[in-house]
Amino acid sequence: MQKLQVDDLTGVSETLLIPLHYRVEESRAGSGSYKDDMAERFHDAIAYEWDKFHDSALQQSAIAARTAILDDQVKAFIATNPDALIVNLGAGLDTRFHRLDNGKIEWIELDLAAVIAFRQKLGEPTNPRHILFAASVFDRDRWIPEVRRHARPRVLFVAEGLFPYFTEEQHKEIFGSLAGNFPGREMLFQTSAPSIVRDFVQHSALSKLRTSVDLQWGLEDSTDVSLLNPKVQFVSEFPLLTDYEKLPPRVRQRLSPDQMRKAGKIVRVRFIAASMDRP
Ligand SMILES: C[S@@+](CC[C@H](N)C(=O)[O-])C[C@H]1O[C@@H](n2cnc3c(N)ncnc32)[C@H](O)[C@@H]1O
Repeated sequence: MQKLQVDDLTGVSETLLIPLHYRVEESRAGSGSYKDDMAERFHDAIAYEWDKFHDSALQQSAIAARTAILDDQVKAFIATNPDALIVNLGAGLDTRFHRLDNGKIEWIELDLAAVIAFRQKLGEPTNPRHILFAASVFDRDRWIPEVRRHARPRVLFVAEGLFPYFTEEQHKEIFGSLAGNFPGREMLFQTSAPSIVRDFVQHSALSKLRTSVDLQWGLEDSTDVSLLNPKVQFVSEFPLLTDYEKLPPRVRQRLSPDQMRKAGKIVRVRFIAASMDRP
């Protein structure tokens, strides 16, 4: 079969190839953290110069960690809420639905139209509980009614690798939309401290994309998330890198253990419900 060209994946959308690649490396390494046949299938079907992403052990371990943390968190949510709706913002070619499906959940993969069209050409098995929805997260008039239409008593939002490409103003806009429309719901998202991470971007896989993409903004301290919108409540955080001794010596020279924990993390927040609104 002829491989799929990536010409339509431009700007931030091309970045979806980075986590796909490192998840596949992890899956093929057989380290036991997870096996992802669907991701391997996607990877094999795409024509891309994958070799250029070799030699980035740090990024691979950060992506393996964020995959494992989110898998654990989403799995636990599904275990207690077997009929939940999961909304994956900036889904790219994420295959978590296939890894965690319990036969009852509903799952919306939301991404830009070009990405959804690309994904639809990859021969992914269809499932009426697995919805691919084309919209920008800034197009709230399109995606919020879609989520409401599918809403179930328990809903969890996930945003993995999406927010770091947005400015602080754009963060405020998205968090405002979520907090205003989904009180009582929770979100797991990835963020990185720009003061620490920006220094590493020039050597990372991001610098090897065909189009130039930059990290824009993130939370230096996860608890500051409430400054984006007072109806967003910090619940917990999970640093992506935790073993300082495992960092390459050249990275340790530029990073303290505290900076390592702040550099990249998964943050869990709750959108405050009206009844919790009072001081
Ligand atoms: C680094 S990729 C992450 C993909 C996926 N979450 C993963 O971890 O494999 C960032 C994704 O965000 C999507 N994206 C960028 N801007 C977006 C927007 N305004 N609305 C929805 N998705 C967007 C891109 O198309 C891309 O798929």
